[in-house]
Amino acid sequence: MLPDVMAKNKPWMLVSLVILFWLPMALPLPAQQPQARIKIDTERTIGEVHPHVFGNFAEHLGRCIYGGIFEEGSPLSDAEGFRKDVMEATTRLGVSLLRWPGGNFASGYHWKDGIGPREQRPARPEHAWGAIEPNRFGTDEFLKYCERIGAEPYICINAGLGTVDEAREWVEYCNEARHTWWADQRRKHGRDRPWGVKYWGLGNEIDGPWQLGHKNAEDYGKFALEAAKAMRRADESVKLIASGSSNFGGAADWIGWNRAVLEKLRGEIDYISLHTYIGNRDNNFERFLAASQDIDERIEIVEGLIRAAQSGRPNPRPIYIAFDEWNVWYRARGGSEFDTGRTALQERYNFEDALAMGMFMNSFIRHANVVKMANLAQLVNVIAPIFTNKQGLFLQTTYFPLVEYGKQRNNVALDLLLSSPTYTVGNRRPLPYLDVSATLERGNRLVYLNVLNRSEKMDITGRIDNVEGRVAGEVGVWELNHPDLRAVHDFGNDQKVRPATRAFAAAISNNGFSYTFPKHSLTILRLKVN
Ligand code: AHR
Repeated sequence: MLPDVMAKNKPWMLVSLVILFWLPMALPLPAQQPQARIKIDTERTIGEVHPHVFGNFAEHLGRCIYGGIFEEGSPLSDAEGFRKDVMEATTRLGVSLLRWPGGNFASGYHWKDGIGPREQRPARPEHAWGAIEPNRFGTDEFLKYCERIGAEPYICINAGLGTVDEAREWVEYCNEARHTWWADQRRKHGRDRPWGVKYWGLGNEIDGPWQLGHKNAEDYGKFALEAAKAMRRADESVKLIASGSSNFGGAADWIGWNRAVLEKLRGEIDYISLHTYIGNRDNNFERFLAASQDIDERIEIVEGLIRAAQSGRPNPRPIYIAFDEWNVWYRARGGSEFDTGRTALQERYNFEDALAMGMFMNSFIRHANVVKMANLAQLVNVIAPIFTNKQGLFLQTTYFPLVEYGKQRNNVALDLLLSSPTYTVGNRRPLPYLDVSATLERGNRLVYLNVLNRSEKMDITGRIDNVEGRVAGEVGVWELNHPDLRAVHDFGNDQKVRPATRAFAAAISNNGFSYTFPKHSLTILRLKVN
């Protein structure tokens, strides 16, 4: 029985009851914002974020060199043939170190083909990528280019089809100050002062069966040891990077290769290289950005292998990791192992790829004690943040986070305490939705807190607590976000995926504050800590 008053106004009362009780249950509730916690302690340091972590890579591949950084006769190029627009975009990118000439290309490249008057240089078939190499861009052009963009040069020798002597003579050509045959050749070609090339790679991915002159670990170890000895006789100050594994053959093989190389070359090398390319092949955003688990793991395994190779030696030569090829790369791959020809590997990057830049950088920063060099592969057109045609260029989505992270060079990486909602991919251990790293700019007491929210659906609110010094309420925010994960840039249309910056007035309580990191976004907060 309904009470009297209700019975009289029965239809209205029923409607009201429905509105009051049923409707709120039927409608979805506003999503619960999960809580995360990030604790900053500027005394818990990991290591310096070395400027060389903001390195890049230019290979004779597709349109990276020819039609990318170098285009003779173009109205956009200078007298040397360097594209001025590309140079300007490269300088703004803040490239600290440039690796050259490959990559796979290096294993068939004979550097003497690329010196002297350009008209006299031989054109040769190029067997790594199926093009004709005109050799119009060679050692002197590369080194001049590095000087122009303010980047340290890093040359990878030919440890495939090349010889130990060729490698030694290359060092002599670049670095010898006295009057020797090769130093005088350099002078004849216009450069009196030595170029002073400090960083030399002892080959590229020599464990990969596709590599020209591919070797097993033992043969590579012997070659690299002799090359290192001969190159150091030419210039004892050079820093050498051993060819780490290409990841061919799965975990057992890549770990085995790196272990063997480190065993053989410890005492001679300064770095071992690591390469990682990732992709979103099954169109699963959260799985794609879970790749940090692999990246972290690879670094930590190699760090352990370095330690194992050095253990028991009283004064081991320090060996660091050169992560000298990394990027997103999965669309512009051919049916065979690699795409070939002059337009190879022209990957177009979207918004989620730009977020992946933050994921890689966070991992390098978290391992700043051992990752002392990293090279995005590559610079222009070929899996690159800069894309040209004959009329100009556009900046890919991936360009912008790289510029912003670059501001943290020379900062000290901080070891954060993080708790965050987690998710699981396959049968791997759970990983936090928030992928974070932080650095401290010591002089200005500025903390950069880098936060990637890799949840596709959830904004995540974090409580940020600071331990050492007082955190100021005025927080600088840099944020990269876009409603369309697949948004891409193009010629005349590269404004879509751009960062937003603003000041955030944090409500400070107990030396901390709350901040909401939007779903699928990359945020860099700048906090003043006095
Ligand atoms: O960066 C493209 C290619 O990827 C490089 O030439 C090779 O080293 C790697 O496999």
